Amino acid sequence: MDKIRLVGGTALRGEVPISGAKNAALALMPACLLTDAPLRLSNVPRLADTRTMTALLDHMGVQVGQEDASTLVLNAAGVKDTTAPYDLVRQMRASVLVLGPLVARYGQARVSLPGGCAIGARPVDLHLRALEAMGVEIELNEGYINARSAGRLRGARFAFPKVTVGGTENALMAAVLADGETVLENAAREPEIEDLGQCLKAMGAKIEGLGTGTLVIEGVERLHGAEHSVLPDRIETGTFAVAAAITRGRVTLTNTRADLIDSVIDHLRRAGVEVTVSDGALVVDATRNDLQGVDIQTEPFPGFPTDMQAQWMALMCTADGASLITESIFENRFMHVPELLRMGANINVHSASAIVRGVPKLLGAPVMATDLRASSSLVLAGLVAKGETTVRRIYHLDRGYERLEEKLLACGAHIERLAGTGAEAAE
Ligand code: UD1
Repeated sequence: MDKIRLVGGTALRGEVPISGAKNAALALMPACLLTDAPLRLSNVPRLADTRTMTALLDHMGVQVGQEDASTLVLNAAGVKDTTAPYDLVRQMRASVLVLGPLVARYGQARVSLPGGCAIGARPVDLHLRALEAMGVEIELNEGYINARSAGRLRGARFAFPKVTVGGTENALMAAVLADGETVLENAAREPEIEDLGQCLKAMGAKIEGLGTGTLVIEGVERLHGAEHSVLPDRIETGTFAVAAAITRGRVTLTNTRADLIDSVIDHLRRAGVEVTVSDGALVVDATRNDLQGVDIQTEPFPGFPTDMQAQWMALMCTADGASLITESIFENRFMHVPELLRMGANINVHSASAIVRGVPKLLGAPVMATDLRASSSLVLAGLVAKGETTVRRIYHLDRGYERLEEKLLACGAHIERLAGTGAEAAE
């Protein structure tokens, strides 16, 4: 298995182009199932996860054309199979996003239950309850969700008892083809949902309230093809902003939007990082000030994103003073802590909170990635740690960051990917 080897200590300088958002692409790609006409998606990031979604759609009979490196043309006119098999769903939980579109369009779907993952139990009960409210009959057996609907789904009012990004996306994609009006209350407001909504509108859907907690959808009988460009990845943007900050460097992030990460920018500024925003670009400059500890609590958008918590913790390990990091979305998302401790960090976890006391130096060490964002926090720590850090199990990184080493290398980082040997295959 491949590893990443880093030698820390270089202040990053340069420019990083931000890719399309993984989480938006993973919701937009299944939207192709809602129509017989082609859906052309540009700015799709080339990641293990988007390849898994391609494999899943291909398995169902969707024609997937690759127009150029980041443009896909998806045509679901010939869908033959409405099953999402365990082998693909277990590789990527977001596979469950085919459920809403499949049952809305074909009146049936059989989707493997995703199961738990490294960061917690992560049930899909709310996805199912929202679909049931629209008249879908759901049965669980042999590890699969069997969903059926006799005719068109029925518009319904559903209030999510808890904010869920995937649940909102599945319900939204189902509601666009339902008979009548659907109102989704306490819907997630993440920008990726707005992006999905914009694409669905381009396909002929009638949706109001995008970007708010209440979505009102007037179902239509059919949707048509469309073209849509995936919005920039706010978590990649935030990760590279932290890379600049943790190395006390100065990096310009291009092809992105500051309004997607207002809360991260706000916390960076409070920590002493200078962030300048101009059209489509962000300049992150940590060359002038000492950095101070700043507390965060993860929250649904527009709060501080849980997908930036691990990276923020790495940064706080290098700041002056202490910071309190509270994880309120996932119950088991401090897997990076033991690894950061191996690099000389001073962190104490008390249930959902961690107290991080800045240390004068992190020290390079061999560490192991456990999930996607935990992996990026270890790379960030390695960028500033004294000596050599090797990060194992980087297949997690490949799920969510496009050309990570290349982009860091271009800013002066000492980073390389080491191809794994067969002996490590059992990792
Ligand atoms: C999405 C993102 C992920 C991000 C997360 C929270 C994608 C592909 N992934 O994941 O990167 O970390 O949002 O911003 O977009 N829950 C339930 N029942 C459900 C659904 C969720 O209890 O039916 C709980 C989850 O266990 C979790 C919380 O709700 O505690 C939020 O999860 P959710 O927003 O659904 O996350 P995902 O859509 O899986």
